[in-house]
Amino acid sequence: MPTVRFVREKRDIECASGANLREVALREGLQLYGIKGNLGNCRGCGQCVTCFVRIIGQTDAEALSPLTPVEKVKLRNRPQDWRLACQTLVMSSVIVLTRPQASFKNSDSIIKEAKEVDLPT
Ligand code: FES
Repeated sequence: MPTVRFVREKRDIECASGANLREVALREGLQLYGIKGNLGNCRGCGQCVTCFVRIIGQTDAEALSPLTPVEKVKLRNRPQDWRLACQTLVMSSVIVLTRPQASFKNSDSIIKEAKEVDLPT
């Protein structure tokens, strides 16, 4: 069973293989959206482009589902390690930063720590 390590929230959450990343985050009560997304989002249809996440230090190309056609268009001007949570299926354990566009205190050291602790496989 994959584990999603949510860096900002400092939580490791197990999910079924193939689980939708947006649904995992929301089920656990995590704040996936910034201000714009909280005011209104497409509820996972891939149209509002507010459910950004950053995938941290991923070396396993098959840990997540491939970019969807929607992501290929909507993320073309974003960093390569960003995904739309609603379009992303978790196949094996990953480290995720929610709301990568929003900075947070001590982010560099918190991300470094998250990468140092092994994820369950
Ligand atoms: S929830 Fe709208 S694009 Fe992901």
